[in-house]
Amino acid sequence: MKKIIIAIDGYSACGKSTTAKEVAKILGYRYIDSGAMYRAVTMYFLEHHVALTNPHEVDHALSKIKVSFRVNSTGTSETCLNGLVVEDEIREMRISQQVSQVSALPAVRHAMVDQQRRLGKDRGIVMDGRDIGTVVFPDAELKIFLTADILVRAFRRQKELLGRDEMIDIDTIVENLVLRDEMDSTRKESPLRKAPDAHQLDTTFITIDEEVDEVVRLALSRMVRASK
Ligand code: DC
Repeated sequence: MKKIIIAIDGYSACGKSTTAKEVAKILGYRYIDSGAMYRAVTMYFLEHHVALTNPHEVDHALSKIKVSFRVNSTGTSETCLNGLVVEDEIREMRISQQVSQVSALPAVRHAMVDQQRRLGKDRGIVMDGRDIGTVVFPDAELKIFLTADILVRAFRRQKELLGRDEMIDIDTIVENLVLRDEMDSTRKESPLRKAPDAHQLDTTFITIDEEVDEVVRLALSRMVRASK
């Protein structure tokens, strides 16, 4: 069957990556977490004290950054920054608090979007993010836009952070999510938007399994259509 591109966009902590990972596994597709790429860039910028207001410093730093993905022994995709696995570090709160500022910079977006398009050139990919269906792959055969209630999202994120031994109170998480939603959807460069042809899915009251089933069902119908 012909391979397609599945773009999964939506607000922070709506279950995009959990769903995307599982769908990719079921279809035998490659999973790319585009948010992880922005997080890795943010980590580099923080560690090298890059001034976001200085375009030369930003360009110089971008020329030194290579973000890649490797599949570990358990079959899970891990983000690497200049060859080092940074999968856990990039999920820390200190990164979440800066990533929206870094990902709003046009130079950062151009560098990452180029790389994302290269990763999807052979199709057979599930990519999650904020602008995948609108900017990165406007021709994706399947576009999903996930939403969920803010408190449900905050509790999901808190559980994820706890699993990494980071205890953050719920109010701080809600504050971070609200702020990021606002910054991600109001920035000038490729803001978070639902593509007109995206299928919207509210995940507040459904389980991950139900979410995955629905995306796989839609994907199969698009694969059949693409193969005709
Ligand atoms: O999906 P995430 O929460 O790990 O993403 C982290 C940040 O990266 C998010 O607040 C906005 C930014 N991002 C983006 O601007 N474009 C994408 N395609 C993916 C993420």
